[in-house]
Amino acid sequence: MQVIESPQEMQNWSRAQSRAGFRIGLVPTMGFLHEGHLSLVRKARELCDAVVVSIFVNPIQFGEGEDYDRYPRDLSRDLGLLQKEGVDAVFTPTVKSMYPEKEQTTVEPVAGMENKMCGRNRPGHFRGVTTVVSKLFNICLPDVAFFGQKDAQQALIIEKMVRDLNFPVRIVKGEIIREPDGLAMSSRNVYLSPEDREKATVLYRSLLMARDLINRGEREPSRVREAMLEMIKQVNGAQVDYVEIYNAFDLSELEEIRGQVLLALAVRFGTTRLIDNLLVEV
Ligand code: PAJ
Repeated sequence: MQVIESPQEMQNWSRAQSRAGFRIGLVPTMGFLHEGHLSLVRKARELCDAVVVSIFVNPIQFGEGEDYDRYPRDLSRDLGLLQKEGVDAVFTPTVKSMYPEKEQTTVEPVAGMENKMCGRNRPGHFRGVTTVVSKLFNICLPDVAFFGQKDAQQALIIEKMVRDLNFPVRIVKGEIIREPDGLAMSSRNVYLSPEDREKATVLYRSLLMARDLINRGEREPSRVREAMLEMIKQVNGAQVDYVEIYNAFDLSELEEIRGQVLLALAVRFGTTRLIDNLLVEV
């Protein structure tokens, strides 16, 4: 397994793979890997000949006062995990090599997908994501790139960007990997105290309850949303950032629950912000 720090070297490596006729798969990550990330790596291994995993905690997608400085990092552990998965190359650039100049061209996501859910309270977050993912595409030159449904809005925004800007990359999405009690795996789960870790199961529980309501015939988005808010309110210390229900393809508003629907929420426990979502087909 090659560990490559320089963007130039990474590009050279990928060009050589392409010339040799290999299909390159890229799994972009911020490291501190868990089974969610590894499930994407395994998918890449299945569908591609050469697998690249990038590990880069991207400063420009963190807002002021967010957790960039304390974001968990453990490169040697990550490299051990990726080695075991049979990854071919790991791209670990420095901030300086990714953003060498003070002013930087950015990629602007469409407003209608950016300004809701995680975009509402994290201004500029998705611009940071689309910008770094564009750079990673241009550096790692993947044929296929893998993203988790855990970050549903992120995956939709990237799919839209790829269509709009004609990136020659196929996007493959992977399902949400959960802990045995239902909590979606996240690098940020390590921030939780044991009490909050237990309370955090309310995210998934509220999603299952909402799905149940819908399955029993509820078609009014506001009533489903209210029921979720009510359930979360019962949990001491859980602060709702958002609970939202959208068309799962383009995040447009729904008059009634119909078709492929995305139920999504973000909840804070102290300074830790967790997200989760569920797709429901009606
Ligand atoms: P990160 O949070 O490290 O996640 C990397 C990828 O793993 C994302 O596509 C994310 O959706 C996926 N993932 C995370 N938890 C998952 C889970 N429990 N089940 C399935 N997939 C999961 O997302 C980012 O990094 C960054 O924004 C990035 C795309 C790398 C750009 O900086």
